[in-house]
Amino acid sequence: MGLYPAKFIAELKMRKIRWFATVTTVSEALAAEKAGANAIIAQGMEAGGHRGAFAASQANNMVGLFSLLPAVVDAVKIPVIATGGISDDRGMAASLILGASGVQIGTGFLRAPEAAIASAWSDAIDRAAPEDTVASRVFSGRLGRSLRTEYTNAATSPLAPDPAPYPIQRNLTQKMRDEAIESNDLTKIQAWAGQSSGLARAIPAKEIVANL
Ligand SMILES: Cc1cc2nc3c(=O)[nH]c(=O)nc-3n(C[C@H](O)[C@H](O)[C@H](O)COP(=O)(O)O)c2cc1C
Repeated sequence: MGLYPAKFIAELKMRKIRWFATVTTVSEALAAEKAGANAIIAQGMEAGGHRGAFAASQANNMVGLFSLLPAVVDAVKIPVIATGGISDDRGMAASLILGASGVQIGTGFLRAPEAAIASAWSDAIDRAAPEDTVASRVFSGRLGRSLRTEYTNAATSPLAPDPAPYPIQRNLTQKMRDEAIESNDLTKIQAWAGQSSGLARAIPAKEIVANL
């Protein structure tokens, strides 16, 4: 969600720590390259979880990975890693053809036993069609993509109050989110999930990687 301060970047370099910057637009990619990022992670709007837009006010600028990836590859000289909606070998192959040096997968690993998420969340990811997720600010105040649930429907309805800014909204929803995980209640879980949820498989992470 932005660039590190110059002093911090200088210290990363001094300690030989590589910095992979998540971006959601071409202009963010150029800014990250200029600031000294070692690689760019181009995050399409399909992605599950928080959107990495630098400014909260720009997060609604929803660019899909098929448009973002080749444009970022053309714009920068450093390696580009594709992310957002990639969950199997087909998505990975398409990303490599569009110029990516590698891929990052989030939702595709959520059903692996190692992730140990609530079973109601895992089962709902399995059932989800691409249109069953929603990007909203209702969990944390920053835009993030989750499964559509009773809570996201209610909190995004025209009658609902606007969410508080990040991280206040995150604190306001903390108790609800914690209790929902305890009781395995999907209606209130912060069920982060991307648009390719339906491709995620409940098999060990090692097998997911081997299949790729
Ligand atoms: C449960 C979950 C938690 C995430 N947490 C973070 C995070 O803390 N920081 C971050 O930069 N991205 C986070 N992401 C986003 C991922 O880094 C990645 O961009 C996204 O998962 C890619 O899209 P996909 O879910 O369709 O594979 C998260 C994603 C998920 C699904």
